Amino acid sequence: MSTHGLPTSDGDTQCTLALEPGLLADIAAGLGASAPIDRLPGGEARRWTCLIEAEQYEALIIAWPAGTGLRMHDHDGSSASLHVVAGQLRERYIGLDGHVQTRWLQAGHTVSLPHDHNHEVINVDGVEAVSIHVYSPPLREVEFRIDAEITATDVTDEVVSRLAHPAYGQRSPQHATPDVARA
Ligand SMILES: [Fe+2]
Repeated sequence: MSTHGLPTSDGDTQCTLALEPGLLADIAAGLGASAPIDRLPGGEARRWTCLIEAEQYEALIIAWPAGTGLRMHDHDGSSASLHVVAGQLRERYIGLDGHVQTRWLQAGHTVSLPHDHNHEVINVDGVEAVSIHVYSPPLREVEFRIDAEITATDVTDEVVSRLAHPAYGQRSPQHATPDVARA
């Protein structure tokens, strides 16, 4: 467990206990093993439901129909773990060198996302993907999960305009090095 300073609305910093990345990964993989897909609402759009709301973390299950995704976003200072239950997701994120990296998150894989992680996640396959997401501390707002929807056809322009990252245009997805996530 680590102490993570989070800014409050009045500018102060409060200390919130955040779970360690390994524990978040264990929670995500454990929930994934139980495959609570029946907890998801029905529909053809991207959809999700909360599996666990605890003081120090929350866990969601998300269904990603073909072509749906989230444009570049952060997690408001929370660390996270993502476990893919079914299908695969393409993730593009800002690496430590400031460049956009691409990796494919496949069924059974779990990745840890540091508190300052910025990424885009999209299902570019033809079949629905399902994933478990665990955040610690719990996300304090959900608008990014509602407002930042993208599709496979508009992802590039959306990312460039949203992020305005000077390094982004230097790499196209075709030139990025695939990095298969490890479990
Ligand atoms: Fe995310």
